[in-house]
Amino acid sequence: MYKYTAAKLWSGRSAGETDKRLDEFNSSVSFDCRMYKEDIAGSAAHAEMLGRQGIISSEDSEAIVKGLRGICDDIESGVLAIDPAAEDIHMFIESALTERIGEAGKRLHTGRSRNDQTATDLRLYAKKALNCLSVKLKALIGVLLKHAKEHTETVMPGYTHLQRAQPITLAHHLCAWCQMFLRDISRLSDAGRRLDESPLGCGALASTTYPLDREWVAKELGFSGICRNSLDGVSDRDYCAEILSALALMMTHLTRISEEIILWCSLEFGFAELSDAFSTGSSIMPQKKNPDICELIRGKAGRVYGDLIGTLTMLKSLPLAYNKDMQEDKEALFDGFDTASACLDALIPMVETIAFQAGRMRSAAARGFINATDCADYLTKKGMPFREAYSVAGKLVSECECLGKTLETLPLENYQAHSEMFSDDIYQTLRLESCIQRRDLPGGPSPRAVGEHIKYLEDCITP
Ligand code: ARG
Repeated sequence: MYKYTAAKLWSGRSAGETDKRLDEFNSSVSFDCRMYKEDIAGSAAHAEMLGRQGIISSEDSEAIVKGLRGICDDIESGVLAIDPAAEDIHMFIESALTERIGEAGKRLHTGRSRNDQTATDLRLYAKKALNCLSVKLKALIGVLLKHAKEHTETVMPGYTHLQRAQPITLAHHLCAWCQMFLRDISRLSDAGRRLDESPLGCGALASTTYPLDREWVAKELGFSGICRNSLDGVSDRDYCAEILSALALMMTHLTRISEEIILWCSLEFGFAELSDAFSTGSSIMPQKKNPDICELIRGKAGRVYGDLIGTLTMLKSLPLAYNKDMQEDKEALFDGFDTASACLDALIPMVETIAFQAGRMRSAAARGFINATDCADYLTKKGMPFREAYSVAGKLVSECECLGKTLETLPLENYQAHSEMFSDDIYQTLRLESCIQRRDLPGGPSPRAVGEHIKYLEDCITP
């Protein structure tokens, strides 16, 4: 392996060496090394533009681009190790380049600062990572939809206050989860749209005196435009906060699903069973099947919230333009991306292989009087004011409780003792399947309405 030790490139003014303890504290290479590809892409575009604009010779420009490609290949293949003592990835690559191609390498940084360079790298990295996450979120929606399609008729209790409330279907519940993730995708792509501007050419803070072609560089790097103010271009880290806030909310969604899966897999609910491949055992209790993935996701949400709060706090009160505080942007953003992505990687196959227990759901739905609203609606549709009907249905429920009956098994005489409006068709009305069937509004649980929703969701995740 070829090891190259990066020399300090800014040692012009100072006479003495910096203290090792400062070097260590100051260095960001241990974490910004993951942006080496983005750094090289940014430098190559900058160098090519310098050549096109006649700011450096085309021979130098070509030598730089070629040298950078070689460095990229060598880092990728492991031939060139990134020096852990380098100040940052930008310094490392520039020094390695000069070491390889000599004089021309020293011209790369013409009309550029690490301030616009690092801002560019991080935006490029974020764009890629956002895409990656959206693909994963779509995959998660995909596996949820696969289950949903099989369970549009699977009756389960819908809950409020974790008390059985009204009948829904499993598909209806799963599609609710999908909607959360659809919003996450849209929030991430929103953040992606706003950050899609190239900082290159902003220089240290005040742009530069060289006739750079900022638009050309932006296009070359795949940005849709340029940052419109050089001070803002180097000091804006809104996108880090925006992405982390979208990720924090996404993590909240993941914890809500996880919590429900944990409940559903308990013996108390018994609505679902995890596959052996995605649940764990206990070292002492032979019967245990633990939902570790869900619990870890619940726990990891705190990290991402911390990344967000850390970033907001780091940015708070910072004067324009660049301040070294901003070097702290990267670890938080990377951790947010890594954590969110790892959670999705574990959750997707776990959800894919989960087995839902339709029978248990159906029997849970049969207890708890979840058709009591339908009983009140029955009377309302026959002309009784809803508040009165509500009170009659309430009395019927309490009568059932006393008699140990359900609304379905309570004799007609008992109904009719409360209201003459009741006739035999009440039993058909109270059937859970028909309660669901009647909730046929857009967004409701009827198999038809959910079928429409599934189609919509499928369209949303189809490229
Ligand atoms: N490693 C630095 C960072 O990530 C690069 C920018 C350094 N700029 C400076 N003026 N010292 O923020």
